[in-house]
Parts: sequence; C-alpha cells; structure tokens
Amino acid sequence: MATSTGSTLTHLECTYCGQTYDADVPHRLCTECEKVLYPRYDLTKVTLGPDDLASRESTMWRYRELLPIRDHENIVSLGEGFTPLLTAPKLAASLGIADVRIKDEGQNPTGSFKARGMSAAVSRARELGAAAVAAPSAGNAGGALAAYAARAGLAAGVVMPVDCPRINQVEAVVSGADTWLVEGLIDDAGKLVKTSSAARGWFDVSTLKEPYRVEGKKTLGYELAEQLGWELPDVVIYPTGGGTGLVGMWKAFAELEALGWIGAKRPRMVVVQAEGCAPIVRAHDTGERHAPRWEDATTDASGLRVPVAVGDYLILDAVRASGGTAVSVSEEEMRAATREMATAEGVYPAPEGAATLAALRRLRSSGAVHDADRVVLFNTGAGQKYPDFVPADLPLIPADSPLWDTGL
Ligand SMILES: Cc1ncc(COP(=O)(O)O)c(C=O)c1O
Repeated sequence: MATSTGSTLTHLECTYCGQTYDADVPHRLCTECEKVLYPRYDLTKVTLGPDDLASRESTMWRYRELLPIRDHENIVSLGEGFTPLLTAPKLAASLGIADVRIKDEGQNPTGSFKARGMSAAVSRARELGAAAVAAPSAGNAGGALAAYAARAGLAAGVVMPVDCPRINQVEAVVSGADTWLVEGLIDDAGKLVKTSSAARGWFDVSTLKEPYRVEGKKTLGYELAEQLGWELPDVVIYPTGGGTGLVGMWKAFAELEALGWIGAKRPRMVVVQAEGCAPIVRAHDTGERHAPRWEDATTDASGLRVPVAVGDYLILDAVRASGGTAVSVSEEEMRAATREMATAEGVYPAPEGAATLAALRRLRSSGAVHDADRVVLFNTGAGQKYPDFVPADLPLIPADSPLWDTGL
C-alpha cells in the first residue's frame, strides 16, 4: 500500500540554462546543454518544522519532505546519515582555533558518505521503475551502490579503476554487483558505463549525471545546521573529487534559508584536493569557472583521483560565493594528518578526510582561518578501508625471544 513520504518534489531544473523537466520520469543531464539537473521542491508546502525533528529516525530520511522519494515503500535504507559531529578539542588547541569539529562520515553503512547519495539514487531509481543500476566509481561509491542495489533487489554494475582500494572491489563483489576494473581513471570507467547502459538495461547513476545522488549528499548540510542548533559554522573543509557533497551542502543551505530555518550566513567553503590531482584548485587559482581535465592524476586518496568534474562550475561558484578557497595537499601531509587525527581525537580518517586536517594546517599558516572560527572537517570515510595508507611497522617478538622472560 502506498504511503506518502510528504515529499514536496515538484520538478527538475537545469543548474546552467534553467530548462525544467518532469521529475517523475527518469532524466540524467540537461538535454539542452548537458549540464547538471537539480530536483526542486515547493518549500511552501513543507509542514515539517525544526522542532518536529527530535522524534524522527536518526538517519538522513528524517528530512523526507525535502527529499525526492514519494512513497515510503521505495526508500532503500541501511541506516545512513545523522552521523556524529564530534568535537575535536585537542586539534583545536594545537591549531589555536576556537572550535574544530569532525563530521564523521566513516560511521555510515559501507564506511563512507557515499551511502547517502546511493541511498537516495537507488531509492528513486526503484521508484521510477529501474531494474538495474550502474556507476563508475573511484571506489567507495561502487561499494555503496552494490550494497544499496542488493538491499533494493536491483541488479548492479560497477566499473572502477584497477588501482582502486581492494576493499572497494571486494565489497562490490560480495553484494552481487557485476564488477569490472579498467586500466584508466574514473572518467574512463564512466565512458564504459555510458556505452554499455542501453544493452545491459542499466540506469546510470554516475555522480551529478543523474539528479538524485546529490539529494542524499545535501543532507550533510541539513545535519550540520541541525547539529549546531540551526547555525552554520564559519568554515567547512571538504575533500573534493566530483564535489557532490560540497554542492549538495550549498543547495541545502539555500533550501534551509528559504524555509526560514537558518539566516543568510554561510560558511566559507573550502575545497581540498591532492597535489597529484587538483583540477578544481587550479581553476580556482586561475579564475576559471570550468576546470579542464587533470592529466596523469596520481594520489593514494582514491576518492580524490577524479581528473574532471561534471559539476565544476557548481563547485567553483559555491566556493567563490562563500568567500572560501581551494587548496591542495601532499601525500605526506595526508599521511601525517591521518595519524594526527587518530592520535588526537580517536577518529581514524580516510586519506580524503585526513586531507581536510592537512588543509586546515595550511589555512592556519596562511591566515585564512582565524582564532575565533568554528571549523568543520569532513571525514568522508573510515580509515579502516585503507589499511596500507599509513603503514604500521610493528616489532615482532619471536617465540625464542628473551623478552618472554623479562617482559616488554
Ligand atoms: C572517502 C571519499 N572522500 C571524498 C570523495 C570525493 O567525493 P565527491 O565526489 O563528493 O567530491 C570520495 C569519492 O570517491 C571518497 O570516496
């Protein structure tokens, strides 16, 4: 029996040329200009208020009126979202900043924030009648897609770069997805998904090339506001590949302001990328609105090995409108920051999450972050998924060691 979620979804709108589309049939990019479509809502019809949220489930579906799924039955959930916004007092003290928080997205199902986007996209694909879904992935999105498709009873296809983390390959396989590795990067994988979709009957949920993954990611922005008592922080530092989380938060803030739940204040949005793959940083520095492909991309932070972003203009517009910036960090800085976050605060971050701390150190040195700022770092994944990023060279006690008698 159909039970309405109360979703106030009205239509899709091109973020570049403004063309509108019927939201209740499948769409991908704008057919006029090949740019990103966003779902739009009639926010005047939202009866939910901030006080109603207290009794809601501790998942991103607590904001269901602001999400695109119309029927409860179609929601595919593994408990994603409403992750803790942890205080980081030792990091704050060592950086000399008033307030540092870590949004710990490693606590999501499948160990990364990709769960949010895939929960929304797979739910909506099911609602619109898809039998099979597919995506190219730098790693974590593939694992998440496979898990959500399995939960939904949909077939899944995942295509990933050959050097993506082993755990991502295994998690796609164990959840029953048809999985391929390619010699190349995520955009090469994307070409293969595109050319195979018709024959394989896949609905292609490549990030920002379909309208609903961003809706799951935007809940990061709702949660930030709710967890800070409907105030936004001064600075948000986000590890940017395709940038879906960053642009999603930017969308969420606009929606919350339109609802009257927050005011006009926005955080300074900071993009962090790896020195070996920093197309958005380069475009930011040269003042461009689009970011040309980064050739020969290399970084062990696999989620940041994204040489080209379809939503480049959305990322760069948000960074500039917010008064934020874009920085790149080295592999060594990410490794050091992994240990630093885990040792100081007990949060073992993904390399991408560690990059946010490395970026904060740089922004402190350059004076871009001030003593009184409240800063939120996004740890987008669990460090446990990258066991080789920071090696642990441990002493081994042989069976005949004298230490057995004398102690360690
Ligand atoms: C752990 C992690 N952090 C960050 C990113 C980049 O995310 P986005 O595409 O939203 O910029 C990814 C993408 O694969 C990721 O897996």
